[in-house]
Amino acid sequence: MTKYNINKEIKKSACLIIPIFEDVSLDDFSKNLDKDLSKFVAKVFANKDFEAKKKQLSFFYTDSEKYERVLLIGLGKEKDLTTKNYKEIVGSAFLFAQNKKYSKLNFVLVDALLKKFEVKKLAVETVVAIEIATYAYDEFKTKKEDKVVRLEEVNFLGSFEKNVLKNLQKGIEEGLVIAEGVNFARHLGNIPPTVMTPSYLANEALQLQKENKNIKTKVLSEKEIEKLGMGCLLAVGRGSKHETKFIIVEYFGTDKNKKPSVIVGKGITFDSGGLSLKPGDYMVDMKFDMLGAASVLGTIKTLAALKVKKNIVALIPAAENMPGGDSYRPDDILQAMNGATVEIKNTDAEGRLILADALCYAGKYNPKEVIDLATLTGACMSALGLEKSGLFTPEENISEKMLSLGEETGENLWRLPLGEEYSEAMKSEVADIKNIGGVGGERYGTASTAAAFLQFFTQNKDTGEKNYPWAHIDLASAIYGSKGKAHIRAGANGFGVQVLVEYLRS
Ligand code: BES
Ligand code: MG
Ligand code: ZN
Repeated sequence: MTKYNINKEIKKSACLIIPIFEDVSLDDFSKNLDKDLSKFVAKVFANKDFEAKKKQLSFFYTDSEKYERVLLIGLGKEKDLTTKNYKEIVGSAFLFAQNKKYSKLNFVLVDALLKKFEVKKLAVETVVAIEIATYAYDEFKTKKEDKVVRLEEVNFLGSFEKNVLKNLQKGIEEGLVIAEGVNFARHLGNIPPTVMTPSYLANEALQLQKENKNIKTKVLSEKEIEKLGMGCLLAVGRGSKHETKFIIVEYFGTDKNKKPSVIVGKGITFDSGGLSLKPGDYMVDMKFDMLGAASVLGTIKTLAALKVKKNIVALIPAAENMPGGDSYRPDDILQAMNGATVEIKNTDAEGRLILADALCYAGKYNPKEVIDLATLTGACMSALGLEKSGLFTPEENISEKMLSLGEETGENLWRLPLGEEYSEAMKSEVADIKNIGGVGGERYGTASTAAAFLQFFTQNKDTGEKNYPWAHIDLASAIYGSKGKAHIRAGANGFGVQVLVEYLRS
């Protein structure tokens, strides 16, 4: 883990990183730097090599021993800077430096940043951005020189009053905990499906129990899943040689009688589509189809480490969706835990099936609310792109809080509709509900019809009354495919952990 310090003086390091606003006077941060360095920076500005525009980087050498290399990073205009921007900018600077194999870095906490963000938040977000940027999944690289150099030490530079210093330190600690949760989720997502089976995922959940005495993990076998009547979950996993699991992680941070919030994560460890097989190009990246599960585990791990005084339950239906002689088929009619019958039209719409049983199970807790996270539809990605995820909920208060925390954490959400039209489209001729449907055409509105399918299982199947308040997040923005970005490497990005942690702790 990276060591973070706060110092008045520059510590010798590979590089000094200075964030600068386009519209804040240079004098603002110059007082924290020595005269020579201020002169260097002023020169870069005078020559217009750097204007501190948003995401601009400028890297140069000086003749000083203390700060041999300097990296200026542009924050753009003060009032325009969002949390998401800030994290991307800080992240891109550290990723840039890490790619140059620097492992010790200085970062100037300029006064303008302390004015822009609340002190503790500034430290949290800065640390989270750095830790996310410098995480790499390179376990399978067999050549040492192909492995990424780990960041060892970061010095936050500046002179602060006692109170500010205390809050910065608190923020650093909290940032490290949150970042660990995010990177844990990313790590689970990046593991290849040869290793990441439902049992492997279950063992990771059992590990959390060992880490924290307030966590209890239970893993149900296929036999137990069958006994509970979870016919949909069982069917989805039947084509795979890996056993299906239902994972329950309970965290009690307060009085056990207090209603828990339940979070549910889709845990398809590989989605081939099943007998409705995906075309080859669409099958790539389907190891990430358990990112809902990964984020849910990352969230409960973080909440427990932060000792949040809430009760939280994480539920993960985990299965591999494969074609085989024993696979479930289109035309099958399955029965979910609540007794509802489901006509299968397409075995690639498997996520909603395994979630259906989990949403039924969630009712047992008489929960305060249930929030599910799932890489559910390609349609949601088509609608929103890879920078926002879809939020579906009939609850105005959940929506308002979730959307605003999305902005605050930089994990942005956009609300998409539920409603009668979408629910209507999922009615089956031969069963209570079918697993695919569109509005006005079979491919239309399918992120919302998928959500409507889930909603059905949050209600009493006979009366239609809701069993509990519910929200669904379709993780359209959880994967940065093969390329990655300036502030984060390719693969899983851990979307959901930060917004859920903030939502559930407040
Ligand atoms: N795992 C996919 C959704 C997905 C696709 C997530 C691409 C991330 C990237 C899901 O199980 C699926 O296959 N959905 C189908 C549903 C369709 C058959 C109604 C889809 O979105 O095409
Ligand atoms: Mg099997
Ligand atoms: Zn699928």
